[in-house]
This record gives sequence, C-alpha cells and structure tokens, in this order.
Amino acid sequence: MAAITRNFTEETATEAVLQRNEGCSDARLREIMAVLVPHLHAVVRELRLTPEEWLAAISFLTRTGQLSSDRRQEFILLSDTLGVSMLVDAINNRKIDDVTPSTVLGPFYVRGAPAMQMGDTIALHGRGEPLFVSGRLCDEAGQPIAGAELDVWQTSEDGFYDTQDETQPDMNLRGVFHTGADGRFWFRSIVPASYPIPSDGPVGDMLSALRRHPMRPAHIHFILRAPGYDTLTTHIFIDGDPYLDSDAVFGVKDSLIVPLVDATPEERAGHGLPEGCKALSIDFRLQPEAMTHLAGAPEAAQDSGARP
Ligand code: BEZ
Ligand code: FE
Repeated sequence: MAAITRNFTEETATEAVLQRNEGCSDARLREIMAVLVPHLHAVVRELRLTPEEWLAAISFLTRTGQLSSDRRQEFILLSDTLGVSMLVDAINNRKIDDVTPSTVLGPFYVRGAPAMQMGDTIALHGRGEPLFVSGRLCDEAGQPIAGAELDVWQTSEDGFYDTQDETQPDMNLRGVFHTGADGRFWFRSIVPASYPIPSDGPVGDMLSALRRHPMRPAHIHFILRAPGYDTLTTHIFIDGDPYLDSDAVFGVKDSLIVPLVDATPEERAGHGLPEGCKALSIDFRLQPEAMTHLAGAPEAAQDSGARP
C-alpha cells in the first residue's frame, strides 16, 4: 500500500498509524503496537464511540493513574477486575496435569517477610480464630521436595492486610518457611476472612456501575520456590466461602479449595494447639522446570474472544 501521509479517514486510520510505527527498532514493541492499534481502532469503530464517551474513558484512566502510588496500585486492580491479570498469569504459567495451578499475585505481597521455624505462628496481633496449616510439597509424581521455600501472607480476621491496617504490627500474618526432608510444612495462624478489594476509587465505581461486588473469598497466599521447579504463586481458598463463584479478580480454581476442619486431638496435642483450633491441610505439587515445555496452549487460546 502507498504511504499514507495525509487525509486520515475512517478507512485509512489504522494503516496510517501502523505505517508510521514501522521505523521502531524494538521488534517486540513494534509487534505489540501492530496488534494493539488495530484492536483499539476496532473498538472505536464497532462502538461508534462519541467524543463524550472517549473523554469519559480518558478521565477514568486519568483518575486511575492519579490514585496509583507506592501504597495503592489502582491500575493493577483494573487489570485484576477485567480478568487481564489472570489471563497473563494463565498464559505464562501453563501447567502439565497433576500439578498445583497458579493464581494472581495481588498487590499486597511484601518482600522480606520474616524467616520462621516450622510450627511458628504468623499471627502476631493476638486476635482471630486459631488455625493450624499443614501439608506437603511434592513433585508431579508425588515425590517430596525438601528445602523448598514457602512465602506466606494473608489477611487478619476482619479482612485487612498489615499494610492496610495501623492496628496490626509490621509483617503481621506473613512468614517464610522451609520444608523438611519429607516435604512437609506446618505453621500456626488465624482463619482469614473474605474481604473487599479497595473500592473507593475508579475501579470501585466501575464495579458498582456493572453491578459487581468487590469481594474476594477468604484465602491464604503462597509463593513456593524450589531449585529445579517452576516458582508457583498461588492461593488456598476455604471451602464454603460465599464468594468462591464470584471472586472480584477471577482467581478461584477448584483444585485450590480446601475444607476448613477442626484440628484433630493428635494435632492439638502434638503442636500445643488450643481447644477448638481449626485446621487446613494442603498438598502442593510443583512442576519440574524440565517439564514446562510439555504444558502447551489450550485449544481455546486460539479464540480471539470477540462476541457479537
Ligand atoms: C489479593 O488477594 O491480595 C488481591 C488480589 C487482587 C486484587 C486485590 C487483592
Ligand atoms: Fe489476598
């Protein structure tokens, strides 16, 4: 096609921008823009956007940026609530069968949580319903992984992370553990609560305009690291939570849901747990790095997702 230098029209708009970008020396950026621009123009064309609607979109994105800071990442919330974070996660963490799936990291992870000994409690604030968490870390064939690192974080009993709540000590409900030779781990905590993602900004406005709630079902976050295995960022959800089927950020997967039960008398005696202590038992399976190439794209990944 001849160079489009002037007379930008509905018909030539997309090609004109693509041609103008051709000099880009960063091959990946050129590739990204060559897909992004036609999709963006297609949205404008298909919806016949009015200037007022386009300005409203720009104002929404402006407010999203203005609210973002070191302590609040409104753009990540936007990506989470539009399902983009989970889609990026799915494409970049393809798994073979029989290993634990990943889910969204979320904005409340803090590096440098305190190193803890097996059996320690991560709950430093003296409130909440006692919980005993135990399990095993194995490979895809069920062989235990020794010396793996578990980086754990969760909310308090009323659904706040330490970084959101001045009544909690720093690094409350966070800790780093290592599995023993048998791949086992155990620690004490409190039962986490379902909680709303921050909803006092543009993303909250968007959710209420869409008649969506901002709640996430109760969960405990884990990052599991072991040499020779793909690092796994995931959560464990508590069975029976009312928000399991409507997580605001689309993070729930069936195999990540575990029942909350009473700790057994043996667990209570063996670990000095109080009467009435609850328990979660979790078996994680990590994907060996050598098998990552076996986890291919699903058929549906070919689907552009466009719907009339
Ligand atoms: C979280 O689970 O910490 C989270 C994930 C996505 C958005 C907000 C919070
Ligand atoms: Fe969370």
